[in-house]
Amino acid sequence: MAEHLTVVLHPLVQHKLTLMREKDTSTASFRKLLREISLLLAYEVTRELPMTTKAIETPIEPMDAPTIDGKKLALISILRAGNGLLDGILELIPAARVGFVGLYRDPETLQPVQYYCKLPDHLEERVSIVVDPMLATGNSSVAAITLLKQSGAKNIRFLCLLAAPEGIARMKEAHPDVQIVTAAVDRQLNDHGYIVPGLGDAGDRMFGTK
Ligand code: URA
Repeated sequence: MAEHLTVVLHPLVQHKLTLMREKDTSTASFRKLLREISLLLAYEVTRELPMTTKAIETPIEPMDAPTIDGKKLALISILRAGNGLLDGILELIPAARVGFVGLYRDPETLQPVQYYCKLPDHLEERVSIVVDPMLATGNSSVAAITLLKQSGAKNIRFLCLLAAPEGIARMKEAHPDVQIVTAAVDRQLNDHGYIVPGLGDAGDRMFGTK
């Protein structure tokens, strides 16, 4: 089985991430970099997909050629920031099925509350990749993956851009079977639940809101 945590240290990923972290990077540049980096991260998160072969004919001769086995992948975006990663990944895996999970944080209990959930069918037969750029406290990611498991998903990976040690620990405790793929693990969370040094609010930076 893959490691619980994979940090993608490829120079292109690290260089683009640094540009995204800079506070003066514009919304347009941030969005473009996010799309580019999501392709590179998608390459890593799909590395161990099950493979089979199929009989094809090249112009020269028949061959048994490698192809991805099983049902189409399920990409699950945690709203709203997950959509920034989703767009790029769909360019690479255009036939993937797509689901959305919307969660907000209850101001009193601070626990995630579901306000939207639409998932692809037959999750038990698919590899599911949950996407959210920031693994901070881990509360919403853990809740989204719990929902996914309740809907039958068994083979789940989590893809993010930045992770905090607190979120990684929370995920490992709640869902030790889920592989996390990230571009970096930052130092810690601050008192507001932001990743430090981080890149700020990923949703605001990609959508130009405040
Ligand atoms: N969500 C964000 O967008 N940024 C953080 O630093 C933490 C959570």
